[in-house]
Amino acid sequence: MIVLGINETSHDAAACLIKDGDILFAGHAERYSKVKNDWYVNDDLINDLMSYGKPDAIAYYEKPFFKKLRLSLRGGLGDWKPKFDISDIPRRNFNHHYSHACAGYFTSKFNDAVIVVLDAIGEWNTSTIWVGKGTEITQKYKKNYPVSFGLFYSAFTKLIGLMPNQEEYIMMGMAGYGDPNKYLYKVSQYFPDINTQKYNFHKGIFDWDEPITEKNKFDIAASVQKVYELRLNEFMHFAYKITGKENLVFMGGCALNSSANTMLWNIFKNVWIMPNPGDAGSSLGAAAAFYGKHLNWNGPYLGHDLGGEYPVEKIVEKILNDKIAAVATGKAEFGPRALGNRSILADPRDPDIKDKVNLIKQRELFRPFAPVVLEEHASSWFDMDFKSPYMQYTVKCLRPDIIPSVVHVDGTSRVQTVSKSENPGLWEVVNKFYEKTGVPVLLNTSLNIKGQPLLNDLNDAQEWSNLYGTGIIGI
Ligand SMILES: [Fe+2]
Repeated sequence: MIVLGINETSHDAAACLIKDGDILFAGHAERYSKVKNDWYVNDDLINDLMSYGKPDAIAYYEKPFFKKLRLSLRGGLGDWKPKFDISDIPRRNFNHHYSHACAGYFTSKFNDAVIVVLDAIGEWNTSTIWVGKGTEITQKYKKNYPVSFGLFYSAFTKLIGLMPNQEEYIMMGMAGYGDPNKYLYKVSQYFPDINTQKYNFHKGIFDWDEPITEKNKFDIAASVQKVYELRLNEFMHFAYKITGKENLVFMGGCALNSSANTMLWNIFKNVWIMPNPGDAGSSLGAAAAFYGKHLNWNGPYLGHDLGGEYPVEKIVEKILNDKIAAVATGKAEFGPRALGNRSILADPRDPDIKDKVNLIKQRELFRPFAPVVLEEHASSWFDMDFKSPYMQYTVKCLRPDIIPSVVHVDGTSRVQTVSKSENPGLWEVVNKFYEKTGVPVLLNTSLNIKGQPLLNDLNDAQEWSNLYGTGIIGI
């Protein structure tokens, strides 16, 4: 049976197709429409998806009734009319946090695990704990709106002038530049423990009584990150205590906070975060909930297919000669991170490369870049004894003098470990660079045109080439 999973009318529409246990396709609406965080699935995405088969059933993420009720209480209604004809296909809807839980647990290798879901808000839930055993997923704890990890973080994102629900990752990056103790006490009053928040953060922070300056924005970001980490630590210990499980599945938008995620390895023996843990990934969660069993997870390369072999030799040559190479090949990544198939790869040894890539991407100069490292060398270059194939953990860099361009101001890096099995082409590129230079690391950042989502298809590649006057390898 082929099941179409859909997430729309929330900030990151996506669709996927599964056939029995196989994931045939999974993609984001924004990469087709070029509308950042597009709320609606579009025809181009659905047509691309349908080339893998016509669905027998549709699984919707969220229960429209509850969401409509909540949105109507907020004064706005979602549009539930899909933009393609699904009139003859049976449909089912799945609860928001349950879909998150299914997206995580059914893509994991675990048969017995605690599943923690933390986000801004589902229908009403904001924090839930589940136990997955065999094919059963059972809820053990729930916390409802308005107490919310996600809303707390988003409200402060808005306070310092960034876009809530979208630019939390920028605030996380800014945190490295600030003093976390400057506002620690003050910010912690807003979220003193996992059950208590000062007020409903939905409308933002409205009683902050200090000026917001260019300097103290960074201190506020650092303090918020610190309070978030303290509460997350508390919540994860609570999840461990009530379930006794040593395998953790962590899902929801909060699982994108790579700086905080590293602590999870101190509490649990094994951790799985699906590479698309937010709402977009729950299109897959809804389909998995419908299927009700584990899926065959072979990696995050599930979107639009540009075809072709990974152009290893050309990329290595370009990096060795010019220090930077733009790559687009094979299937697009499902999730917010470019993991080698839609990437800019660069020589991490050059201290000026960070500014050069930032200029190409026209983004803030303080923004850090991430490294991709051969999995077998990861622990010699970074302080880690676990894998991070999807750039989900930030750890201390052990040799910042050699690879300065992928080290944040606080000495950390958001690491991608690459294995021969999950992306043999990218592994080969890094390995050849290692053979030539003795450094098993490259800078890896997303290939996108300023203000646009990750590059998707041939048209985008053409637009990139016209704009930047440089070609993309692989197309
Ligand atoms: Fe969510």
